[in-house]
Amino acid sequence: MRKPFVAGNWKMNTNSYSAVALAKDVASGCSDIAGHKIDVAVCPPFVYLQAVAKALSASSVAVGAQDLYFQQEGAFTGEISASMLKDVGCAYVLCGHSERRHIIGESDELINKKVTAAISGGLLPILCVGEKISERETGQTEQVVARQIEEGLAGLGAEKVSAVTIAYEPVWAIGTGKTATAQQAQQVHSFIRKLLSQMYGEKLAQEIRIQYGGSVRPDNAAELMRQEDADGLLVGGASLKKDAFLAIIQQAAEKG
Ligand code: PGA
Repeated sequence: MRKPFVAGNWKMNTNSYSAVALAKDVASGCSDIAGHKIDVAVCPPFVYLQAVAKALSASSVAVGAQDLYFQQEGAFTGEISASMLKDVGCAYVLCGHSERRHIIGESDELINKKVTAAISGGLLPILCVGEKISERETGQTEQVVARQIEEGLAGLGAEKVSAVTIAYEPVWAIGTGKTATAQQAQQVHSFIRKLLSQMYGEKLAQEIRIQYGGSVRPDNAAELMRQEDADGLLVGGASLKKDAFLAIIQQAAEKG
């Protein structure tokens, strides 16, 4: 049985005051279910991680970073390592979010190094994958998602991959208000689970959690979560509004 997992990706939003306030509101609003019925995490910008982790230290809401660098330390100006993220209280880290792939220009090879470094550093990576609209329209969704997973997890044995969550986030659904239908999401989630089964065996494939992300809102969360292979949600815009995010968490927890 996979425990539902909802994460909020705050992207480049909030400030030192609002980040802490939002974290506290989320924690108090889901204190009855977080940690046992559902895993919940928030991913603030780097500069607020420590303050948010402190605000959440007595709660069951975890903290995740939005990115990391794969080197452990040294002359890498502007970068942040896995051990630094651990040090300030992170449990999770997003790897290969579509905005990093397509705006910043991260390759599958770089993302693989990040996933590997995250696991070695004791973090739980959320590997984000998903096709662009042109790729969907030309029938390449499965091919793109397979490449992102195979290359993103390259060189990692089953034992390490058990630390990973996969987030399926079609690029055309992120921040656009155009959510994938529950059927479209399920189709890709089930493809991902089959692929994981071929790569690591059925047992591990059944254990790995697959989140959906892309314009998740309180009015579509329940339907998305009803699909067999939907184990959670990665929420952007709606995670910045406490009531919306708490409603999404509540609905996802009902599957647990
Ligand atoms: P959105 O973002 O919910 O605002 O579409 C999702 C994400 O980028 O993870």
